[in-house]
Amino acid sequence: MKALLDRREATAAATDAILSGVFERGEKETALPRALAKEDALTKGLVKAAWERREIKGKRKELTVIHRPDGRGRLVLVGLGARPRYDAEVARRATAEAVRALKGKGARTVAIRLPSFVQESVTSEAAVRAAVDGVYLGSYEFTKYKTTSDGGVEETTIALGEELERDETLLRKALEEERTIAETVVWTRDIANLPADTASPARLAEEAKALGKELGLKVTVFDETKLAEMHCGGILAVGGGSTVHPPRMVVLEYPGGARRGKTVAVVGKGITFDSGGISIKPAPAMANMKFDKSGAVAVLGILRAAALLKVPPRVIGILGCAENVPSGTSYRPGDLVRTYNGKTIEVLNTDAEGRVVLADALAYAVAQYHPDELVDLATLTGAEVVALGDDTAGLMSNDDKLANALLAASATTGEPLWRMPITDYHRELVKSDIGDVRNSTEIPVAGMLTASAFLENFVDGTPWAHLDIAGAAYTTPTTRKYQPAYQNAGATAFGVRVITRYLLDAGRST
Ligand code: BES
Ligand code: MN
Ligand code: ZN
Repeated sequence: MKALLDRREATAAATDAILSGVFERGEKETALPRALAKEDALTKGLVKAAWERREIKGKRKELTVIHRPDGRGRLVLVGLGARPRYDAEVARRATAEAVRALKGKGARTVAIRLPSFVQESVTSEAAVRAAVDGVYLGSYEFTKYKTTSDGGVEETTIALGEELERDETLLRKALEEERTIAETVVWTRDIANLPADTASPARLAEEAKALGKELGLKVTVFDETKLAEMHCGGILAVGGGSTVHPPRMVVLEYPGGARRGKTVAVVGKGITFDSGGISIKPAPAMANMKFDKSGAVAVLGILRAAALLKVPPRVIGILGCAENVPSGTSYRPGDLVRTYNGKTIEVLNTDAEGRVVLADALAYAVAQYHPDELVDLATLTGAEVVALGDDTAGLMSNDDKLANALLAASATTGEPLWRMPITDYHRELVKSDIGDVRNSTEIPVAGMLTASAFLENFVDGTPWAHLDIAGAAYTTPTTRKYQPAYQNAGATAFGVRVITRYLLDAGRST
């Protein structure tokens, strides 16, 4: 995919398709909106005719395709819904919708005409970013295992129009930055969508090595022997059931763009397949569990974007990778596990494995790097999906400043976060009778929050935020956002955009 910025309307007219937005029209609105005058001229009055027949209503998801009488391509009018409710997320979704509709229809080049009114509700910069996101994220397809492809949009030109020419330098910078982020999301999805037979812990470590080589990042891989020497009993316990795919912990280091920047550690849950282990899951609940590595893969993406964009803070990425399967060497309910920081975990349910792996990874991050801030991403609990559904991730934090910075980044990127509490009530529930903490509670209440209270034991008071991305990490045919209705290929790379934005905005001081 290529994304360009152009201020010449003529360029727009030379593409295979032109995308324009239309707001929802009022009951009594009869005259064609002035904003569509150019489109109408290009189609020799066909837009006006469709408008007068009330074919164009401007409702969200509405697509009107008009072939240009000059035979040089088509115009796609995409509904934006009610004008007062227009925002960057509406723009992202509308762009994604339109680009997807062009798939397999021979439209190789596309021009997006930014509405001239963007300054009112969405800045021109936000509009350019939204268009880039919509095109990249909407046209994404996991093609690795396909021998044929439908062929989609390959080149997008964002046509600025005279109104925006004065902002050109700023907009070019925004386009380039957003393009890097969106490309990284695509890169991340391609790894997250890999099936569990291919994407083993060792393979994730190799991906990290390759990335490190490409971008000049220091990458360290700890295998099962090294993990034993380090007393990472949590990762070893969870990964113990898989003798063919043994566990790995991977550390990537980006030195930081500023001279005296702060250190941010980003930790990801990398369960390459979560069968539940001895506490095995029923078949339907296991169906999407190759996506249980999504947090760790997002960390790879975050390090990639951080290095390419030279974000101010130093960023340490840590991936806790293991395959959770039942066998004679698996850990069992009732086992006691000693973790990197010396605390013990009483295992009540081997399916609550993510927190056991994260215990080591978080404790290691804190002890080795003394980060100023610590963020983890994990497809941690089914309770998160029940509480917040599949587009919003849970945010739990012991630090208001960090939580608010993440919420601010979330608001501009369209990766929604919702903060929930960790209280003494939750802390009590994860106390163990024979060890320090138990990995599951006796009563099934507030599962996302008891999991968070568990993790808190391993951050040693460091300002920390936990993102439970269980619902948002992948889409299924019944739940999609920018993506097509994919089965088994719906990795969203959730977290890459919001955390990258947070790192870009993170000041140089601590
Ligand atoms: N990987 C799952 C959580 C999950 C569920 C992610 C659905 C995505 C979609 C996690 O390891 C798990 O199994 N959690 C259990 C914990 C329970 C046994 C305490 C859960 O949430 O049911
Ligand atoms: Mn599990
Ligand atoms: Zn899991």
